[in-house]
Amino acid sequence: MAVLIVFLFLLIVWTVFITVQFYNITFRGFAPFISSEGQTIQAIMQTLKEMPIRPDAQVFELGCGQAGFLRAFEDIYPAARLMGVEYSLLPLLLAKFQTSLKKSRISFRRENLFHTDLRAADIIYCYLNDTMMEKLKEKFQAECRPGTLIISNTFSLPGWPAKKVIPPIGWMKGKIYFYEVGA
Ligand SMILES: C[S@@+](CC[C@H](N)C(=O)[O-])C[C@H]1O[C@@H](n2cnc3c(N)ncnc32)[C@H](O)[C@@H]1O
Repeated sequence: MAVLIVFLFLLIVWTVFITVQFYNITFRGFAPFISSEGQTIQAIMQTLKEMPIRPDAQVFELGCGQAGFLRAFEDIYPAARLMGVEYSLLPLLLAKFQTSLKKSRISFRRENLFHTDLRAADIIYCYLNDTMMEKLKEKFQAECRPGTLIISNTFSLPGWPAKKVIPPIGWMKGKIYFYEVGA
């Protein structure tokens, strides 16, 4: 009986998650929940080692899912100030669970990333979609300080020249774009 109750509970949680994702992807143009590949994140970390990164940088992962980028960043820059932004409850709970397993300083905010104040950002990581990047371009230009580094997995900022592009890694075959505000 207990097994059946747990199964029904998980089924309801999963159905609500899928329905909310379907609505937001279809009618609001939001990106689905797909995690960045480990190899891709490691390649980004290697590239960041060649760049001047402040140890206490303020870093945002917009649409953080399980916050794979922030967790890898924290391993290298433990003094960084890290913020994951995610509207969807299930990925957010997974991220909180994973960070609770180690002494992580990552903070999370449950909100629509288009409402996130990015004025304090030094580094922003996104793995979203073309529609969202098109809208985010204006937000980045309006809010971010000169010098803010924007890293986008697979989806470029249209019309914005990249500072660096890493060729595709892994089976997802997306390039990684690095942009600098005001460059
Ligand atoms: C492709 S996944 C990337 C997850 C994670 N950043 C990674 O690279 O592994 C995109 C994430 O963005 C979230 N998302 C999509 N639209 C959003 C919005 N408007 N506000 C906040 N989160 C959003 C989705 O729920 C999903 O978890």
